Amino acid sequence: MNPLAIELNKKLEQHSPAVLAMLSTLGKELFFPKGILSQSAEAKEKAHRFDATIGIATEKGQPMFLPCMGAKLSAFAPKDIFPYAPPAGKPELRRLWREKMLRDNPGLRSKQFSNPIVTNALTHGLAIVADLFVEPGDHIILPDMLWGNYNLTFATRRGAILRKHVTFNQAGGYHVDAFRQTLRETAAARGKAVVLLNFPNNPSGYTPTESEADALVQALYEEAAAGCNVVAVTDDAYFGLFYEEVLKESLFARLANRHPRLLAVKLDGATKEEFAWGFRTGFITFADGHDSPQPEVLTALETKTMGIIRGTISNCPHPSQTFVIDALKSPDYEAQKLEKFEILRGRARKTKAVLDAGGFEQAWEYYPFNSGYFMCLKLKNVDAERLRLHLLDNYGVGTIAINATDLRIAFSCIEEEDIPELFQLIHQAVRDLTV
Ligand SMILES: Cc1ncc(COP(=O)(O)O)c(C=O)c1O
Repeated sequence: MNPLAIELNKKLEQHSPAVLAMLSTLGKELFFPKGILSQSAEAKEKAHRFDATIGIATEKGQPMFLPCMGAKLSAFAPKDIFPYAPPAGKPELRRLWREKMLRDNPGLRSKQFSNPIVTNALTHGLAIVADLFVEPGDHIILPDMLWGNYNLTFATRRGAILRKHVTFNQAGGYHVDAFRQTLRETAAARGKAVVLLNFPNNPSGYTPTESEADALVQALYEEAAAGCNVVAVTDDAYFGLFYEEVLKESLFARLANRHPRLLAVKLDGATKEEFAWGFRTGFITFADGHDSPQPEVLTALETKTMGIIRGTISNCPHPSQTFVIDALKSPDYEAQKLEKFEILRGRARKTKAVLDAGGFEQAWEYYPFNSGYFMCLKLKNVDAERLRLHLLDNYGVGTIAINATDLRIAFSCIEEEDIPELFQLIHQAVRDLTV
């Protein structure tokens, strides 16, 4: 093992043996090399005559670039677009995102947590979690209504076993008991659990109520207190899009600094929240379980994260980090976000109003939804894939078949005035297939 990895592991052993035990074999072996990047960081400070370190080209004191690219990006300084961004991301972006996290999550203000590290959006953050913490055979606990890509990231890439629990109970709430039961079984079988908490949820569009959130956190706390090492990951991709009386901060705030065996990891980013899907700008943030500061634990996790970034994609795109910094500093940012939030909330409300107006009882029920981009219909007598194809071929309507009964509708991309027609068409298609 590399001596730098041994050093990081020793720090973890000393300050949080549980976090060391949570790491995968790869996670234990990770380190950040003192190579070109650290030599060139030193040169940036001291090489006043010539800096011949880093692998870019320069001209007249700034990065070399093609005018045909630079001209269209002239609102930004070439130094903020063309060179590599640092491996953990632009420091200003990390600071601004941390401040945003504190504004959005009042519960975090009294907590200790790392600086967010920039990722190539949330999928990359999930892959980092899988690399750091998942060993083949480890159990990942998540609801059976889940974003399908978790399969590739955790099961296919890393050999994890996805332990799915029923998402909703009979009363139409989150099935906290099923969650607790699955967690308990995993704790008993493995002594370790990786838990994925994705709210607002894809595909259901559900966020727990305050009391459901408390019960989820309590269940995690109890298993940690009973001796299970728990990595609790919040996938906050759709954060902020809360349309009803639900938990309005990330579960990360409630999970941070709760128990030494409970490591909280927050994944979030500009993708859905700032409507910047193609920017590929996201963040990973850690909070360990100690209620007194353990900077060594956070530093070791940050360093290992930088190591996996350096060894996979080297660093994240620079222009989009600059664009997000610019947006976060804009005086118009809050007002523009509110405007878009209201559009999406209007679509969610319209969807509910259309579904509640009656007339569809023979065809479907719908799963609870209160947030995010999506909702799901539960079809009563038509196969979802058959309906999907029929809708596409005969009505030009695209939907997603999740399984035999569930059809996902992204109301986020249907204008409010078109929502009644969308459901009428889906209803017509169901009737075509059932007469
Ligand atoms: C729950 C969830 N997490 C993560 C992602 C991926 O986000 P990104 O595009 O930032 O990688 C998605 C995208 O659909 C998602 O629905």
